[in-house]
Amino acid sequence: MADMMWAGRFSKQVDAGVNAFNSSIAFDGRMYRHDIQGSIAHATMLGDCGIITKEDSLTIIEGLKGILADIDSGKLELDPNAEDIHMFVEAELTKRLGDVGKRLHTSRSRNDQVAVDLRLYLRDQITEIYDMVKELAVTLVKMAKEHTETIMPGYTHLQRAQPITLAHHLMAYVWMLLRDMERLQDAGKRMNYCPLGSGALAGTTYKTNRQQTSDLLGFTAPMPNSLDGVSDRDYCVELCCALSLLMTHLSRFSEEIIMWCSWEFKFVELDDAFATGSSIMPQKKNPDVTELIRGKTGRVNGDLVTLLTMMKGLPLAYNKDMQEDKEAIFDAVDNVKLCVKTFTPMLATMRVIKENMRNAAAKGFINATDCADYLVKKGMPFRDAYKITGTLVAQCIEKGLTLETLPIADYQAMTDLFTEDVYEAISLDTCVRERKSEGGPSPEAVKKQIALAEKALGI
Ligand code: ARG
Repeated sequence: MADMMWAGRFSKQVDAGVNAFNSSIAFDGRMYRHDIQGSIAHATMLGDCGIITKEDSLTIIEGLKGILADIDSGKLELDPNAEDIHMFVEAELTKRLGDVGKRLHTSRSRNDQVAVDLRLYLRDQITEIYDMVKELAVTLVKMAKEHTETIMPGYTHLQRAQPITLAHHLMAYVWMLLRDMERLQDAGKRMNYCPLGSGALAGTTYKTNRQQTSDLLGFTAPMPNSLDGVSDRDYCVELCCALSLLMTHLSRFSEEIIMWCSWEFKFVELDDAFATGSSIMPQKKNPDVTELIRGKTGRVNGDLVTLLTMMKGLPLAYNKDMQEDKEAIFDAVDNVKLCVKTFTPMLATMRVIKENMRNAAAKGFINATDCADYLVKKGMPFRDAYKITGTLVAQCIEKGLTLETLPIADYQAMTDLFTEDVYEAISLDTCVRERKSEGGPSPEAVKKQIALAEKALGI
């Protein structure tokens, strides 16, 4: 601790408690690869611009590669007492190379260093999460293809409303996921600008080449303003926003699966490998995975609020508050990955109980709209048809019947527009088959959207 890198100005050692409080290596240590990647680009540029000698540059690069290999292999452990990953790597380099190592930080600050590290790290995470979400969407499309004829009730207000198919329902989530993928990509695109070379806040007097470091690290371009370069955390907020929305989708789906697993619905049964039992109630099979996903959504939303609140009062440029960005965005990233990774195989192995879905659709008068439409197609204004159907539903409820089992005489007592063909018109299969408007649940219409989704997913 006596050797704090910034020790020159200080006459006392930093308080041990403050040091521990200040230190971020416990959580930013995971960026060591990206930190070294950034430093190699920086050292290359320093050498090429003649800010340090070519020889020193090469020595530093070799030294950094050695540190990377040693951390990767476990030979070198991160020092928990180091202030952060940047200080740790630099100190280790200097330990290995002596004075040459001390030249690496020329024309750089930890402020632009941490900003570049975090962008590089999150860029990789976006790719990983994107691929995982894609796999989930592909799985759902596959399932949808098997269930274009699986009739189930569609709900509004959680009341049976109109008939749909499981494929139609699953595809609704595919479109949400496709938008999530687009949002991730979009966040990645805007994130991909290079802050390196911004220095502490006001650039540098050295003749650096920011284009070179930006190119070496695969960024689109250097960030045009050094103050913005070090103080921007929009990319964390944007990514977290995209992750919150993704979690919202998983959480809604989870809530449905939780209901579908209940004895009241019994539309699906989870594979034993993806459910848990109770310590006391032997009959229980609990959908813990989906409940945890629903629960973790609150946590990711919390991360988003942490980031937004952290930033809202900060003057330009860097403030230490910003060190808090990492735990929040890492927590969001980690939990999203855990959720998607578990959700996909859980869905793929879930058993669909078609007959229960169909039975639920056969009750609850979900063909009442179709009954009204039957009259409309015979010339009656919709409002009148709606009223007559409502009366018929009330009669059914009173007699313990459904529209399918109500005698034709009761229909005809309301209007002679009703003939025997009404039963065909209100049969579940007709109701679904005829809903072939674009985006509708008929097998024909759903197959069209499946084709569109397959195209979007490149499958
Ligand atoms: N550990 C710091 C962070 O995560 C690195 C930047 C420190 N800069 C500073 N001026 N203290 O934000």
